[in-house]
Amino acid sequence: MLVPVRPLSDLSPGDAVRLEPQHTLDPTGPGVAIFLTEDGELHAIDDSCTHQDAALSDGYLEGCFIECPLHAALFDLRTGEPDGPPASVPVRTHPVVVVEGWIHVDLGGAEEIAA
Ligand code: FES
Repeated sequence: MLVPVRPLSDLSPGDAVRLEPQHTLDPTGPGVAIFLTEDGELHAIDDSCTHQDAALSDGYLEGCFIECPLHAALFDLRTGEPDGPPASVPVRTHPVVVVEGWIHVDLGGAEEIAA
């Protein structure tokens, strides 16, 4: 399921936007954080740290990594894998595409979190 987020032209490199939970398949879930890296790559992950409850869209973007704003765990936006403690569980990633200038997140193609 492709969900439109906003025009790509609204974002500058280093920006993050949040897709609110009511616009996802899980209205009680964390929502989705979408990032435009300095290299122009788009990545989407669940907007919740797997350590505790912090919005990763409020974190610090550096390259393809997002640093959690609460305890500084780093997550690789390409894989969702944490890069060290205190987080040990990957965050779920979602495919992102641009259709007619709009960023879309493919929530139907979400990868499952590894057990
Ligand atoms: S809540 Fe993210 S590292 Fe603790």
